[in-house]
Amino acid sequence: MAKPSVIVTRRWPAAVEARLSELFEVRLNHDDRPMDKAALMDALSTADAVFTTVSDRIDAEVLSAEPLTAKLLGSFGVGFNHIDIEAAKARGITVTNTPEVLTDATADLAMTLLLMVARRAGEGERHVRAGAWSGWRPTHMMGTQVTGKTLGLVGFGRIGRALASRAHHGFGMKILFHDPYPPAPEQLAALGAEPCATVEDLLESSDFVSLHCPGGAATRHLINAARLACMKPGAYLVNTSRGDVIEEAALAAALKDGQIAGAGLDVFEGEPKVSPALLAMENVVLLPHLGSATEETRVAMGMMVIENAEAYFAGREPPNRVA
Ligand code: DGY
Repeated sequence: MAKPSVIVTRRWPAAVEARLSELFEVRLNHDDRPMDKAALMDALSTADAVFTTVSDRIDAEVLSAEPLTAKLLGSFGVGFNHIDIEAAKARGITVTNTPEVLTDATADLAMTLLLMVARRAGEGERHVRAGAWSGWRPTHMMGTQVTGKTLGLVGFGRIGRALASRAHHGFGMKILFHDPYPPAPEQLAALGAEPCATVEDLLESSDFVSLHCPGGAATRHLINAARLACMKPGAYLVNTSRGDVIEEAALAAALKDGQIAGAGLDVFEGEPKVSPALLAMENVVLLPHLGSATEETRVAMGMMVIENAEAYFAGREPPNRVA
């Protein structure tokens, strides 16, 4: 039987590309250049499956490709707000994602951002590299203590809980959360986590706020000027979810006015563009969407896309189907 044909939109880790080549009639993207709309539509009209990532915009127009040969979109990542799920469903396309395997890596990175911004690590590193360090002194580059402070999590799914575990057990932090679907009471007890009825309640009571809600229309600009104004003046905001959960211009204004103390950001509204105002600030840590970027995790994500596709092509239910 002929192998299913697959087009992969970006470069994937070598071990995964090798496995893809064994299992499928695969077209890899050796140059790793992002595919434009026409190329994505062409892929949907050529292959049996397209393996996509967060950097591809799979909107209703892309999904209107004719003739449509691809009936599977295997997404490399847990978030799938880059795909118009309703349009995919309407065209009978199955969509899969890669949950769980990136939980630890992303929680580790959120903790990294939290520590970096509180302890001015980015700023300090730039200072040393610039040759500006004149020596130790008691008042030099004082940051904020993390241990024992209160961390508020907006969204308390897998990644939010993994961060809570690190923060509570490793740094003695008190954990607050807001989530419309809270986890079971025993999970809350293990993390000493207390629910907040509203996002505002959480913002008012937290020294650090970390965002772990899904992207998409429902959470776009969840953190806007009014909500930023609810945060404590010395508080810090961390985002490893999706860029447009924060209204970036409002965040830049809040930081500039000293309404909040700092921010650690891994994702941006106009990614890969970052607002010039943020780029110019010392009290923000900016990373290029590295949440899941460890060798181990990226290989596991790729292998999970393959596992989903193998099930699909064998006529079984893919383990991580989102549409
Ligand atoms: C995810 O898995 O959602 C990461 O942000 C990479 O897409």
